Formats: sequence, structure tokens, C-alpha cells
Amino acid sequence: MRISIIGAGYVGLTTAIGFASKGHRVIIIDTDNDKVNLIRRGKSPVWEEGLEVKLLDFVSNQGNLEATSDYQKILDTEMSLICVGTPSNSDGSINLSNIEDSVKKIGKVLSKKTDYHVVVMRSTIIPGTTKHLIIPLLEEHSGKKVGEAIGIAVNPEFMQEGKALQTFLKPDRVIIGEYDQRAGNMVLEISQDFGAPIVRTDVTTAEMVKYASNAFLATKISFINEMGNICQRLGIDVYTVARGISYDYRIGERFLNAGVGFGGSCLPKDVRALIASSKKHGYQPQLLESVLAINEAQAKKIVEIAERKLGSLLNKKITVLGLAFKPNTDDIRNAPAIPVVNMLVEKGALITVHDPKAISNARQVLPENVSFGNRVPEAINGSDCVLILTEWDEYRDEGLYQGKTVIDGRRALDPQKARELCDYHGICW
Ligand code: UDX
Repeated sequence: MRISIIGAGYVGLTTAIGFASKGHRVIIIDTDNDKVNLIRRGKSPVWEEGLEVKLLDFVSNQGNLEATSDYQKILDTEMSLICVGTPSNSDGSINLSNIEDSVKKIGKVLSKKTDYHVVVMRSTIIPGTTKHLIIPLLEEHSGKKVGEAIGIAVNPEFMQEGKALQTFLKPDRVIIGEYDQRAGNMVLEISQDFGAPIVRTDVTTAEMVKYASNAFLATKISFINEMGNICQRLGIDVYTVARGISYDYRIGERFLNAGVGFGGSCLPKDVRALIASSKKHGYQPQLLESVLAINEAQAKKIVEIAERKLGSLLNKKITVLGLAFKPNTDDIRNAPAIPVVNMLVEKGALITVHDPKAISNARQVLPENVSFGNRVPEAINGSDCVLILTEWDEYRDEGLYQGKTVIDGRRALDPQKARELCDYHGICW
């Protein structure tokens, strides 16, 4: 199929490479010329293991992937997938300005198209958005009736950063929310060889499936963190408890790693947006509010443990290992490490940070007086306390921390081995 992908961010780029690797002809459209030029040279605007090699191959060798800032190129395709970002407003609600902007532009271009064209929402959008905002906007700007000349579907992505392409190509399920059957059939056509269960439903339900998925994952993490906080007071290892409950097939083993909490571009933002939307509709989502509150408290706990160990943090040398919200990504969005570093700096600590990939992103948001270590031994040399906030493999060597005070926010180390070598503390174990 000929597919245009709107937005060259993380989701758009992976989606484009994913569909190009399935043999479709893909055009990425983004208004940011710098991003477009990078992609044209086979360079990825986001770091993700293996992504750039594929990108270069499709752009240069196979020639079935191109990038442009010209929305008119939509006319060369049969389907447009909207993959632009949906950030948060200050009250946690979803900011739909990028979506609105792209839908208006698509609508204008489609006013000139004679053949049927399907617009697919792949960005995460709060339930009701397609029905109440996107369809009216498309109709207004195209002058056409949605469901007739223009089709609409919602096809949320469930990719995980760090293994984006892998999760794209082998999804656990495909959700197709269709406004008109023809649109649903076209999404089915490009999805059926993924070998995943397919749920066909209406557009609003499909939007909700995405939020419910992320809210459940976030809940699982806050649940195990709460168990960890209780276990710690009782002298119980929450990781053994997690293993014990995981064999119950109704519970499962994934997303039961207790620690400093969840971050990233999706879980925190989506839970906040769902809370804001529920309240707007007159429902107080108590469970989801607690999920966020527990998550925020985990980051504060790291600082409290440091204070218990070191007393006043004024002029104490503290090393923070790991800034990315999880390993194998350079993404620091909502990473727990950022508020932890800010809290430590406010208390007068002298901070050195290290991360294998996220340093250049972190430099833009961390206070100026934070130092950046190039190598792990150098970063921890002479420090009073080491915090591990992302479980990168290179931090997992207990031998690195001989004689140090270590606060492990991710269970990166084996507690028994670490306790033999250093003054070791887990955040909730
Ligand atoms: C998530 C969803 O998993 C994905 O389906 C959705 O499409 C986008 O959001 P991602 O943001 O890439 O993906 O990260 P994920 O692997 O889910 O981890 C999110 C956060 O939770 C990370 O900060 C991670 O460290 C934390 N986490 C995860 C835990 O603290 N404990 C766990 O057991 C699992």
C-alpha cells in the first residue's frame, strides 16, 4: 500500500520503518525541515538500537521510504497515519494542538482528491477525540463527508521504546477502531500479516483500549512499589514476593519490578490525561490518582534514604547513575532521575551524573552546576553516595562499588553480593 505517515517523531519514524520493511511505499511528512533532511540522509532524529541501519537501507538502497515537509504528497498515497505528539497541558489534560494542525492540513489536501482516502489515528488520543474533534475538522477542511469519500480509523500503537521495531513487527494485538468498514478493512490489510489477535471495534473504544492498557501497566508498577514499601518495613524481599505471585497465570510475571517508578513519554502522561478526562465527565478516578501519587513518592524516597545515610546533603558528593527513563534509550521524558537530581541540587549536594546515551538530552534540562562523568568509575570516584536510577547493564557490576554507599533504585545489583562489598540500600527492598 502507499502510506503517508504524519510526524517524524519516535512513533512516526518506527511506524514508517516498520511498514517499509513489510514492503509498503512510505512517505514521512513532518513540518520540521531539519528532521526531514536528517531522514533523507538516512539519519534517525531519535536514538533507538538498530533503527538507523534500517532507515538508511530503506531510504538509500530499497528506495521505498522518503521524507518531505510537503503535505501535498498525501495525494500520492491511499492512507495517512497520524503519528504526531500529544503532550500534556499544565493541568494534565491532553494537548491536541499538533493533532488539530495536522488534521486541518490533511483535510485541505484531501479536498483535491477524487479517490477514497483513509485517515488513521495512531497518536494516543483521549476517548471521544476522533468522533468529536477529528471528524468535524476533517469534514470542515476537506468539504467532504467522512465515512464516504474519506474513511477514518483508530489504530493505536503499543510500541515500547528500546525495542520499538521489535514490538511494532510482533505486536501482542492489533486494535482497529473503524468509523466506516472500508477504513477498517484497509487497516486490516496492512495489519493481518503481523500474526497478532485483531480486535475490531468502534473508534472511541479503540481510543480507550490504549489508555486502559497504559493505565493497567502503570497500576501494576505502583502496586508492586506499594508491596515493596510494605515488605521493606517487614524485612521481606519484594522481588521474591513478585516471583511468587507471578506464577499465578492471572497475574503474570511482567511489570512487577519494584523501584524508583515509571517514567517515559506514555505511562505518566496517559494516566494524567485519563484522570483529567474522567473528572471532566464527573468521575473521580481514585485508583489512578493513587497510582500517580505512589509513583511520585518513590522518587522522593531515594532522597530520603540518602539523607538518612549522609545527614545533611549540603556539599555531599553524590553520583547519579542512569538518567534515561529506562535502559536502551536516550529518552529522559518524565524520567524519575530528573526530579531526583533537582531535589538533591536544591539540598546543596554536589552532583555528578552518568548515562551511556542520555547525556546530551539531560544537559538541556539539568541545573548548570551538575557535572557529567564520561565513564562509570570516574563518575563514582570520590563520591559519598551512588544512586542507581536506570538499570543499564554497565551498572550491574557489584565490584564497581567497593566501600561505597549505594542506593539502588532499580534492583540493578544482586543485594546479597552488593551487601558484601558496600553499604547497600534498595529503595523498597
Ligand atoms: C509504554 C508501554 O509499555 C507501551 O505499550 C506503550 O505503547 C507506551 O508506553 P514505554 O514508555 O516504552 O512503553 O516503556 P515501558 O517499558 O512500558 O516502561 C515504562 C516505565 O515503567 C519505565 O520507566 C520503566 O523503568 C518502568 N517500569 C517498567 C518499572 O518501574 N517496573 C516494571 O516492572 C516495568
